[in-house]
This record gives sequence, C-alpha cells and structure tokens, in this order.
Amino acid sequence: MSNDRNSSRIPGFYRLSVAERRQLLRLRADLTDQDLRTLDGGGIDTTVADRVVENAVGVYALPLGVGLNFLINRREVLVPMAVEEPSVIAAASNAARMVREGGGFVAEADDPLMTAQIEIVGVDDPDAARARLEAASAELLALAHATLPRLADRGGGARELEVRTLPGRVIVHVHIDCRDAMGANMVNTVAEALGERVARLARGRSGLRILTNLCDRRRVRVQARVPARALATESLDGDAVRDGIVAASRFAEDDPYRAATHNKGIMNGVDAVVIATGNDWRGVEAGAHAFAAADGRYRPLAVWRDEAGDLVGQLEMPMAVGTVGGTLHAHAGARLAQKLLGVTDAKVLAMIVGSAGLASNLAALRALATEGIQRGHMALHRKSQPLAVLEPPRPAQPSAEGSRS
Ligand code: MEV
Repeated sequence: MSNDRNSSRIPGFYRLSVAERRQLLRLRADLTDQDLRTLDGGGIDTTVADRVVENAVGVYALPLGVGLNFLINRREVLVPMAVEEPSVIAAASNAARMVREGGGFVAEADDPLMTAQIEIVGVDDPDAARARLEAASAELLALAHATLPRLADRGGGARELEVRTLPGRVIVHVHIDCRDAMGANMVNTVAEALGERVARLARGRSGLRILTNLCDRRRVRVQARVPARALATESLDGDAVRDGIVAASRFAEDDPYRAATHNKGIMNGVDAVVIATGNDWRGVEAGAHAFAAADGRYRPLAVWRDEAGDLVGQLEMPMAVGTVGGTLHAHAGARLAQKLLGVTDAKVLAMIVGSAGLASNLAALRALATEGIQRGHMALHRKSQPLAVLEPPRPAQPSAEGSRS
C-alpha cells in the first residue's frame, strides 16, 4: 500500500498533535500561514457573519477534521469533514481503508443539471396548454439562455424543457446545466424570468417559481468493492462480517424504519463534506430523502451485496454541490476545504461527497453487524467528555433517549 507524500493513507495521523497534523496538511496541499490561521478562526468572523445573515450576533463553530485513506477513481483524496458527532471521521477513514484494499471507490456523476419549476394555475385545458408549451420549447430555452449569458459562456445553460400536469396545475420544468455552481440562484432567476411568458402560453396564472431540490438529473453513483478478508474483526472472519453487512442492507431494503437510519449513516459522511465545502446541506438532505422515496416507498440510498466473495456496495443519490459561488465568497473555511481537496470541478466534488457517504455507511453496518455501534462510538464520545467539566452546571436534560445514534 502506498505511503508516499501524496497518499491519503497517513498511519498514526490521529496520534499527532493538532499542530503536527496541520504541518502535514500544509505540505500536502500547499497551504499558507493564512490558510492555517483560518483553521483557528473557523473561516468567518462576526463582521462577515453580519454581512451574510440578518440579526447576526456572532458565529457558530463545528469541529473540522480530515477523512483519511480515500482513494477515489485512483486519486488520493484528503477529505475535509465538518461534524460535531464523535466517531464519524474515524469510522469513515477506517472504512475507506478497507475499500482501498479493493482498489478504492469508483465514482461517476451526471452533468450538473438543476431544475426550475414554474407552476401555472387556473388553466382550463391542461392538455392544450402542454401542447402549446412544448411547441414553444425553443423560444423558452432561448429566453432562459438570455437570462444567464455568463453561464452560457462557461458552457452551461438551459438544456431541456419538460411539461407536467397535476390536478389543478400545469408545471414546467426547465433543466439547466449549472456547471460548477450549485445553481440555486441561477435556476430561481430563470424560473422567475420565464414565469409570465409560460403562464401566457398556458393561458393560466403564474404560480410558484423556484428550483426543485429533488434534482434527480444530477446524481452521483459510487461503488466500493471490499475483499472479505479486509472486513474481519478480532472475533469474526471476513466472510461472516460480509454476510452480516449484506443482511443489514436487506433489512434496510425491506423496512423504511431501518432505511431511515441506514440513510442517516450515509448522511453522516455526506453532510460533513457538504458543510466543510460551504455547500447547502439542507438542499442535499431534501434531495436525498425525496429521491429515497421517489417510487412511493422510502429506500436505502446504498445497498450491499456479496459478489464472488467480495462485499460490493453501490450508492446512488442526487448531489447538488458546487465549487463556485454561494458561501465560498464569504467563507475562508470553505475555500480552505476546497484547496485541501484540490477540486474545482463540481462533478468531482459530488463524487468525493458520495464516497464519504458510502464509507460512513460501510463503517456503520460493519459495526452494527459485529460488536454493535456503542463500543467504538462511546469510546470516542468519552474523548469529548472532559470538556463537560469546563461547562457550568445545567438543568437536567433527558439523556439516553435523546442522544445521537
Ligand atoms: C449514527 O450516527 C449512524 C448509525 O445509526 C447509522 C446506521 O444505523 O446505519 C450508526
């Protein structure tokens, strides 16, 4: 296994001091002193916060760590993860190490298509409206292009128009290639620009005009193949662990109650990277769960199978993340995370986020199928316990039932 300067496999990283870890990152990602100072401040100060949100009174910080061992499409990746839950980063790193043994994550992402929804109400004849709208498709796409000339310069722009009818309303979808942006602002701009013309063509009234977070044309797919031997624990051989993980996957496939928790484990990794890179995690969450339930039943976003003795996992989910615009202007921490990743292409970022999600899922299922989640989880929870003694006493809270897991 490679252990060169660019490898994301850094044995003993967790044993180093924070200062030593930073020096290591500095070398690997060409970080400057200024970059390293960002790590202390969290990326924004109160002055910036006051420009970003209303009624600002300060900033709210999260721990930022680095997911190790990630090999994604044969590229070594140090994965920045912002998360408050102990064990998420260690677990994802541990799972990524197992996936390395099978050659690493293999990922692909769709073109970055986001969809504007334009609702028209009060339409007398929805079928005739649909026909008129479809006939005007070229005109409407040209109008969308004209609304976003700079996006067209970068090779993006409106690609396709789709008309749907629901009881009492006609809905026009405009699919827009947002290139490296998450795209919400651009898509909403198009939705508003086209609203009146679309309503006139449909002979109705313009209703809501906004993107959909169910961006199912902007999906990421990630596969991981793990040799069974890499899954073994102190007390169980690799075949038994593999079978336990496949059984856990089938449980999630059969039961939405379990699927919700299975997907929460995926989102542990996904959200941590989405937040670290300054992206809209509420949008990613909304898209993930809508997609999970798209066929009318809530399903797991990743499934695991035994393939010729290896454990093989497949994740598929919408992934609306960008590398330009949005929070990046304001947030030095998000810019630093991107520098660490060395990523400017939003599709590559989507693949990294998906890989972190699949790694987190593997780690959770392996723990659940073997010793249970509490042993490792609680050991790391204990690491954060001494902090509690620094805090003033608080009124009693509901504890065990309310705890994260
Ligand atoms: C805890 O944050 C996540 C898990 O509950 C995920 C799962 O059950 O698969 C361990």
